[in-house]
Amino acid sequence: MRGLASSIFFAVSAVATIVPNKTLQKDVIILGGGASGTYAAVRLREDYGKDVVVIEARTLLGGNVNTYNDPVTNTAINYGVEAYIDYGPAKDFFARFDVPTQPVVEYVQSVGSTVYVDAASGTVLPNISAPPVKADQLAALQTYLTVVEQYTPYLLPGYWNFPSGDDIPADMLLPWGDFEAKYGVQDMYPIQDLIDGGASPNTTTLYAMMNFNEPVVSGYLNGTMFDPLPFNNSILYGRAQELLGEDVLFSSQVINATRDDSGVSVLVQDDAGATTLITAPRLLVAFQPTAANVAPLALDGAENAVFSTFSSSVLWVGVVRSNFIPDNTAVTFIPGADAPPYTVEIGWSGTSGLSEIFFAGAGYTEDEGKQAVVDAFLLLVSAGTFAPPEGEEAVAEVVAFTDHTGLGFDQSVEMLQQGFIQQMYALQGQRSTWWTGALWCPGYSSNVWAFTDTILPQLLQGLD
Ligand SMILES: Cc1cc2nc3c(=O)[nH]c(=O)nc-3n(C[C@H](O)[C@H](O)[C@H](O)COP(=O)(O)OP(=O)(O)OC[C@H]3O[C@@H](n4cnc5c(N)ncnc54)[C@H](O)[C@@H]3O)c2cc1C
Ligand SMILES: *[C@@H]1O[C@H](CO)[C@@H](O)[C@H](O)[C@H]1NC(C)=O
Ligand SMILES: *[C@@H]1O[C@H](CO)[C@@H](O)[C@H](O)[C@H]1NC(C)=O
Ligand SMILES: *[C@@H]1O[C@H](CO)[C@@H](O)[C@H](O)[C@H]1NC(C)=O
Ligand SMILES: *[C@@H]1O[C@H](CO)[C@@H](O)[C@H](O)[C@H]1NC(C)=O
Ligand SMILES: *[C@@H]1O[C@H](CO)[C@@H](O)[C@H](O)[C@H]1NC(C)=O
Ligand SMILES: *[C@@H]1O[C@H](CO)[C@@H](O)[C@H](O)[C@H]1NC(C)=O
Repeated sequence: MRGLASSIFFAVSAVATIVPNKTLQKDVIILGGGASGTYAAVRLREDYGKDVVVIEARTLLGGNVNTYNDPVTNTAINYGVEAYIDYGPAKDFFARFDVPTQPVVEYVQSVGSTVYVDAASGTVLPNISAPPVKADQLAALQTYLTVVEQYTPYLLPGYWNFPSGDDIPADMLLPWGDFEAKYGVQDMYPIQDLIDGGASPNTTTLYAMMNFNEPVVSGYLNGTMFDPLPFNNSILYGRAQELLGEDVLFSSQVINATRDDSGVSVLVQDDAGATTLITAPRLLVAFQPTAANVAPLALDGAENAVFSTFSSSVLWVGVVRSNFIPDNTAVTFIPGADAPPYTVEIGWSGTSGLSEIFFAGAGYTEDEGKQAVVDAFLLLVSAGTFAPPEGEEAVAEVVAFTDHTGLGFDQSVEMLQQGFIQQMYALQGQRSTWWTGALWCPGYSSNVWAFTDTILPQLLQGLD
């Protein structure tokens, strides 16, 4: 057994060509303080008695949980994560931080009207076909539930039992459009769009089912989705942050790492340039394995072969203050001829004068994206679709804008049959490294927490 001092010396010489400002020795290093990293840190420290450190690039925990605090009304506008599924440990996690819950608060659901406009001109399209009536939507969803629930053992709490080759159920490999036609469930699409943004007809059904899984569907149907009370999704993470205290290094990222079967060393740098060298017998990666995120981790061939096959989808979420979008109104821009090369979606926030927005535009910088959003809003005024109050200039200002770009499954059916999921899961535990988060399981917070619970006991094996 190497002594502490010599192992730190070994680590310094291996990952740091500089003398770090600080060194730490921990049981588990957690990369990313979003839904999965925060949950893992709390459980490992509080329930398993381990020393942990969380390395978080931003200044807050919570990842995709984003809250705009409106200074005018003192209201919390949740513009990232909105609602929670009552699945796995979710309610217990809220209870542990004394955060009460309430039935889901979903403004988009109660929207009075969605206005469909041409994306190029901003003028109202009067000829959009009406969605199916609600009863037909619900009937289709009920039928879908009876199908998707058969596949739950393959999906939740993760893909541990997912089969390969001919054992993969044929339904899961159909293009989504064919699956919908086979079961006659096309009418459920407005609910699916609302919950997860919908699936395109060419998407492999497995990937649509990952998002539109049994607990989500039954939670919608039986009204058990929930929100914190008051409806401020940042409260949970604020309390976790207080509890974890100095065990979270904010504004910090890994710049170098070595990993082998005996443990890991990571060199971390904060935004001010100060470096910390951390050694631990275990690493838990709880951010998405994007090329930029994993670059300092020196991936091996097997890791590269898996992570390089995911697709990246650009998404920004935010809040816009304007003086011309009426209350209870959402706006959908329909792309036609001359449509701009990006997508803007406008939703109702629940507070007058504030809209929640999505922006998808590959290659746009933050400032360019914000400008495109403002342009889309002002187009609605120049087209005469909406008007500010008499005597006022039209104003549209992006008051919150956060990057939610993430990886998604896009592997071919052949790759699935050849064992892609098994190849991915075989990375778990290699070179003292474990992986959690939205890519490893259906991607809602509650699913991610339940999946993390399957990882922790395995990660802890061999640690006293
Ligand atoms: C628009 C949108 C809406 C959603 N709505 C819901 C919802 O209503 N309900 C729900 O249950 N789920 C929702 N989800 C899904 C939910 O966000 C995910 O389940 C959850 O965030 C996944 O957790 P995670 O830990 O994998 O990733 P994240 O929560 O994204 O956490 C990753 C963390 O890692 C940090 N990080 C990234 N790179 C680095 C780096 N290099 N170094 C250090 N730290 C880094 C990030 O800052 C972040 O804090 C939504 C997702 C999106 C995109
Ligand atoms: C990162 O580690 C490698 C050895 O693993 C070393 O060659 C390199 O100099 C290190 N880089 C920094 C910035 O410390
Ligand atoms: C970190 O260490 C470097 C030298 O290695 C030093 O120049 C720098 O001032 C230190 N930063 C802090 C914040 O201590
Ligand atoms: C709908 O109306 C727009 C103009 O208002 C027109 O350009 C478009 O072709 C119409 N679409 C259909 C399907 O009729
Ligand atoms: C779906 O796949 C078909 C056949 O491969 C292709 O022609 C079509 O363009 C695809 N549609 C989308 C939206 O990708
Ligand atoms: C609602 O759905 C959840 C998730 O599947 C299920 O566990 C629960 O039993 C259902 N509750 C009711 C009241 O039907
Ligand atoms: C929402 O919660 C966060 C975290 O506790 C807090 O900082 C913020 O002020 C709250 N927002 C409002 C409007 O109360």
